[in-house]
Amino acid sequence: MASLGVNIDHIANVRQARRALEPDPVTLALLAELGGADGITVHLREDRRHIQERDVELLRATVRSRLNLEMAATPEMEAIALRIRPDMVTLVPEQRQEVTTEGGLDVVSQLGSLQALVSRLQASAIPVSLFVDPDGHQLEACQASGARWVELHTGAYAEAAWAEQPRQLARLEEGSFVARSLGLRVNAGHGLTYQNVEPIAAIEGMEELNIGHTIVARALAVGLQSAVREMRALIQNPRRDPLFSGSTP
Ligand code: PXP
Repeated sequence: MASLGVNIDHIANVRQARRALEPDPVTLALLAELGGADGITVHLREDRRHIQERDVELLRATVRSRLNLEMAATPEMEAIALRIRPDMVTLVPEQRQEVTTEGGLDVVSQLGSLQALVSRLQASAIPVSLFVDPDGHQLEACQASGARWVELHTGAYAEAAWAEQPRQLARLEEGSFVARSLGLRVNAGHGLTYQNVEPIAAIEGMEELNIGHTIVARALAVGLQSAVREMRALIQNPRRDPLFSGSTP
């Protein structure tokens, strides 16, 4: 049975839209854990558009499940990972202009540098996963890199038209089989929703699904009524001077 890693980047996106204090991804990560998250995933991007370094530090101190740090394979991120010591690093490709991670990591073309990075992280007891498309050559390169895990990119499956979805699902099933034949452990994620997750969760050998956008979207949908109700109650029955009650003028 696959476990669930909850990606909380979008909570930080809302906070950063206002450069405000709320919503706080660290507090909400605890609620995600109370809801049954088996792990918390964050992507610390080079441009810091959502998650900040401080969030990762606080999450390291507060997450009781597992903290998975998605990051680009750069010296800056390596130093941060070695300092903060997440329970897993997932290496992802990163382009400044993209809205979200768009394709898997090209492990084949950067095998040498990835081998060195994986070996330094794993020598510090940080397991490494590589986010790749379900492609045989990439999976072979993942094995050659020394990484023990892969995260199969489910984006093409998630975006496929209905008639094309079975073919994309078959690619992921085959990818999981090939990865496991190479001795790799298998996670998956990207673009999974309440509607399309079940066939992926049922893939043999699937260990963890990393899911973010749809869960945060759903939280808004199921939480908005209560939030409006609470605000309306305050407006309709205000206390006088609640900020200063108890103080003398
Ligand atoms: N896995 C990886 C490697 C990702 O980059 C992302 C998006 O940040 C996810 C999983 C989660 O994708 P989504 O937000 O579409 O569920």
